[in-house]
Amino acid sequence: MTPHLEAKLGDYAETVLLPGDPLRAKWIAETFFEDARQVNGIRNCLGFTGSYKSRPISVQATGMGQPSTAIYAHELIHFFGVKTLVRVGTCGGIHPSVKLRDVILAQTASTDNGMNRAAFAPFEFAPAADFGLLRAAAGEAERRGIKAHVGGIVSSDLFYGPEGRYQVLTDHGVLGVEMEANTLYTVAARAGAKALAICTMSDCLITGAALDPASRQSSLTEMVTLALEAALAA
Ligand code: HPA
Repeated sequence: MTPHLEAKLGDYAETVLLPGDPLRAKWIAETFFEDARQVNGIRNCLGFTGSYKSRPISVQATGMGQPSTAIYAHELIHFFGVKTLVRVGTCGGIHPSVKLRDVILAQTASTDNGMNRAAFAPFEFAPAADFGLLRAAAGEAERRGIKAHVGGIVSSDLFYGPEGRYQVLTDHGVLGVEMEANTLYTVAARAGAKALAICTMSDCLITGAALDPASRQSSLTEMVTLALEAALAA
C-alpha cells in the first residue's frame, strides 16, 4: 500500500502496461487479460493484474502529465518490484513523415518540464527507451505489418499551447507530442528498470486531422497487442 496504490506486495506483475486513462486500463484488462482482477481503485486510477498467454501481466493507469506519471512509475518500481513499464498512449503528430494511426516507438523524449532540469544541472539528461524493449517492439511491429516509426518524441506540459510551438523540434526530427514519456524513462533509469513508450498518432498538429472513434479504437487494439507481445518477448 502506498499513497496512490492500495495493492498489496505481489499484486502487480513485474511487467506493467501504463495507459493514461483509467477506463482504458479497464478495457485492456477486460479485452486482453485472462483472470483479470482489480488491484487499485484509489482516485479511480484503476489498476488490474491477470495473465496474457499464461504470463503474469498488469495494467495501471497513470493519469495525464508527467507529475502523475512519475508518481505511479515510482511507486510501482520501488514498492511493488515492477521491472518493465510500457506506456501505451496516443500522441499528436508534429512531423510530416508520421501519418494518422502510425505508431511511434519513442527512442527518446525531449521535454519542457522542469523536473530533470533541477535534478541534473548543469547537465541536460537525455532519457532513452530500453533497447531490448524497443528492439522487440520494432520487430513485432514489422511482423504484424504495423507502420512503426522509431525516433524522438516530446513530452509536453501543455496540451493547449501556441501554434508553431513545436516547430524547432520538428526541424530536429522529433515525431510526436504526448505528455508522459520523458519522466517515465527518467524514473525507470534511476531505478535500473526498463521502460518504453508506444504511441499511436491520434491527431495531427500540422493538418488538424484526427482519428474517428472507430479507427481510434482499432488502432488502440493494434498498439496494445504490440505492447503486450514486445513486453513479454524482451
Ligand atoms: N498533445 C499532447 N498530448 C497528446 C496530443 C497532443 O496534441 N494528442 C494526443 N496526446
